Amino acid sequence: MQLPDESIEYDYQGLLAAASEEWTPIAELRAKHFLSPARLKALVPQLTQIRSQVAAERDLQQVPPELQPLDGGFIDLPQKTLDDHRRKGEESTLGRVLRLANRLRDEVDRVVILGIGGSYLGARALFEAMCHSYHNELPPKVRLQTPRIYFEGNNLDNDALQDLIELLEHTCVDPEYREERWGIIVISKSGGTLETAVAYRVFRNEAAKFYGSRSDALRQLFVPVTGAKGKLRDLVKVEGFPDEDILTIPDNVGGRYSVLTPVALLPGAVMGLDVRALLLGAAAMTRRLLDEPFERNPVLQYAAVNYLMAEEYGKPIRVLAVWSKKLEALGLWYDQLLAESLGKQGRGPTPLTVVQTRDLHSRGQQHQEGTRDKIINNLWLKTPRTPPILMSMADHNEDELNALNRKSLMDLQAAALRGTAQAYAEAVRPTADLILPALSEHTIGQLMQMLMLATVVEGRLMGINPYGQPGVEAYKRNMRALLKG
Ligand code: PA5
Repeated sequence: MQLPDESIEYDYQGLLAAASEEWTPIAELRAKHFLSPARLKALVPQLTQIRSQVAAERDLQQVPPELQPLDGGFIDLPQKTLDDHRRKGEESTLGRVLRLANRLRDEVDRVVILGIGGSYLGARALFEAMCHSYHNELPPKVRLQTPRIYFEGNNLDNDALQDLIELLEHTCVDPEYREERWGIIVISKSGGTLETAVAYRVFRNEAAKFYGSRSDALRQLFVPVTGAKGKLRDLVKVEGFPDEDILTIPDNVGGRYSVLTPVALLPGAVMGLDVRALLLGAAAMTRRLLDEPFERNPVLQYAAVNYLMAEEYGKPIRVLAVWSKKLEALGLWYDQLLAESLGKQGRGPTPLTVVQTRDLHSRGQQHQEGTRDKIINNLWLKTPRTPPILMSMADHNEDELNALNRKSLMDLQAAALRGTAQAYAEAVRPTADLILPALSEHTIGQLMQMLMLATVVEGRLMGINPYGQPGVEAYKRNMRALLKG
């Protein structure tokens, strides 16, 4: 199924130090800030051993205390989800996701997705990467009847929530018309996250006013995605949702590793994405991790290079420079994945997403000449999704752009990438490239799985448990105590 030219690659050659260089001031800088190929090679046996350990952790029935919490269920889940769908069809998780997504697509023109953190950022990343940039503004026919998408329940921001409620009030007047109906996907694994729970209650009240407090729409047009146990599950059961209409997030998959569960598969299917291709891409990446040698293994390469840069070369700031506006939300998803997984015990890299070329005009100066504490990973899209825009000749050439006649925006962007890489290399600023052959469900599935797997491998290299987020609990405890007081 996977075509060779659809595979994503990690190219880190540009940040390797030359094996032996005559002393010059710049060579000294390169030896200090670029990665020694010998050091990387020396890490390979440990990486291979960690790969075996990560593979073995998938089958552990009894988790020893030193490994707890262990949420490695995401590793095999894409293939298992596909296999299960092949065997059980509509009864499988994917079958139910597709059925409920079709129901929402048939019934409503607006879907509000409620969730925060790992229960939000993956769906947001898919929406921005894969849907038209002005999706919500497009006429329904052009959107192929795909509902408009909104995200809420990811904050306690009065004005933002009120604005969305007002939008629904102004645009949805008659619940008899599909074009004026709206629905909700509410996502919370624990079921107890205040931001999401509050938004759910607010939208339930709005829906009761709009559809009527006894209307079936309150169940038909709302879809809960939650853990096997918890307050949200208890609530929707009391509200009369049938079991087959409640989607479950598996116990052994942690929030920020849950993008390929119903958490983002349902929103993705509502957006009209080919969620099977997402899963296929992810499953292919798991196979690459498990089967490929270091030289062809982007998970191990990315984990090793970034780990060494952070831990041994004084580069704790990990910049993901995305060379497409459409990938900014994917960068924010990765920020959360990395920060919440490895930011523990006074350690861990600090993620930062920048969008190029936009942020060359804001952060570029610092990245070129500021503190030498960064590694920059460019996320580069080889081909655009839409027809290329070409420069053309004009009678008035005061802007001197005639020289660029017939060059595409991709040509200009490629020159910007090469020019930036060269400038950073000359200033001994380490950069590497994550290359996406195209923007498709298959490549995004590969990329997300690659980054999740690499985060686990990096955590194991550091001796930090990549699962669990004990630090996030402190603010929740304090907030609840203050609200009760
Ligand atoms: O990665 C995580 O576990 C967190 O970011 C959670 O996804 C986030 O706190 C939301 O939790 P829940 O899905 O339980 O509402």
